[in-house]
Amino acid sequence: MPTELKPGIHWVGYVDWNVRDFHSFDTRHGATYNSYLIQDEKTALIDTVKGPFASQLLENLRCLTELEKIDYVVCNHAEPDHASALGEVMKHLPNGTLLCNEKCRNVLKGYFDISGWNIQVVTPNDTVSLGHRTLHFLNTPMVHWPESMFTYLAEEKILFSMDAFGQHMATSVRFDDEWPLHETLLEAKSYYANIVTPYGRQVLQVLDAAKTLDIEMIATSHGLIWRKYLQEILTAYHAWASGKYEPKILILYDSMWESTRMMADAILSGAMDVSPKLNVLPLHVRKNSLTRIATEMLDTAAVAAGSATLNMQMMPAMAAALTYVRGLKFAKKAGFAFGSYGWNSAGANRIQKWFEEMQWETSLAPVNANWRPAPSLLEQCADAGRVLAAKALEMSGQ
Ligand code: FEO
Repeated sequence: MPTELKPGIHWVGYVDWNVRDFHSFDTRHGATYNSYLIQDEKTALIDTVKGPFASQLLENLRCLTELEKIDYVVCNHAEPDHASALGEVMKHLPNGTLLCNEKCRNVLKGYFDISGWNIQVVTPNDTVSLGHRTLHFLNTPMVHWPESMFTYLAEEKILFSMDAFGQHMATSVRFDDEWPLHETLLEAKSYYANIVTPYGRQVLQVLDAAKTLDIEMIATSHGLIWRKYLQEILTAYHAWASGKYEPKILILYDSMWESTRMMADAILSGAMDVSPKLNVLPLHVRKNSLTRIATEMLDTAAVAAGSATLNMQMMPAMAAALTYVRGLKFAKKAGFAFGSYGWNSAGANRIQKWFEEMQWETSLAPVNANWRPAPSLLEQCADAGRVLAAKALEMSGQ
């Protein structure tokens, strides 16, 4: 059912209550694919939805207008969660011209036969008048695809920001002031950490560009629309994109027969002794999703990572976590590697090598426990926790 943002402007997207895996993103709260209809002398649709939900989008549009009256379809982002309905949508809009940038046109050509589509390539210098309102375009390359673009509706001060500032959450409400802010910010953080982190530099450029616009509403392509807490989400994005550290230590570990878990507990206990300002968070990598691990990794200052040795490797879930983290290119952390082994030590040493490849700060030597960690070795782990705590406090300016 459409929801009005302002007179003549409606949300017409789809709430995907049941999606739980979004190309490996753990969408435990579902997702939405937001699409917006602007009705003026001309009518424009901003973005579409995921392909399987094209008919629901068309149904929403028919509640508001005849499909023949839609003049423009803006494609801000060609990723299929927003654009895979385009084939079906364009078929039903005989008078619809697709507005997109050149890179987007090339991506769409890779997904669709676009030979029958009426396409108008737009640049940031172009404007498209709808009558009383005007569409402006702002290229936002690598936030988070090369063709990504914002559309700005100047007279209404609405920024259609595609993925940026979005959150994966399915809700019965559409606006930020209708939902607990801390939950929305947490989901926005999870979205940022897992999707946007590698492109912090580009995000900072976009935030600078956004400062030049008068914005009253940020209509994202996922989750809730920002109309009350704009400053909060913009400030959060600035902190995340700048790689700002929180006074936090993440302890990632995987254990076979509890020895590595005992070491993780000792690190936790040592770090917790240092200051109540610290957030010390142990996460067993087989019991937490990669999405959660990345979310917690985003702002942590220090990471202790531990693994038992299995077949001369670290445990597979730890290898998966580190591979995922590597791709996301988080700000450099202080690292400490630990682990246990039977006849050949490898888990901690392989993690240490990974830290070195990532050029993280590794002044603490790895600690290896043979079979069960002796009390003196657990004390070494607690000491390492205390050192990491001091580093985390310093790195976060506490
Ligand atoms: Fe929501 Fe990058 O697609």
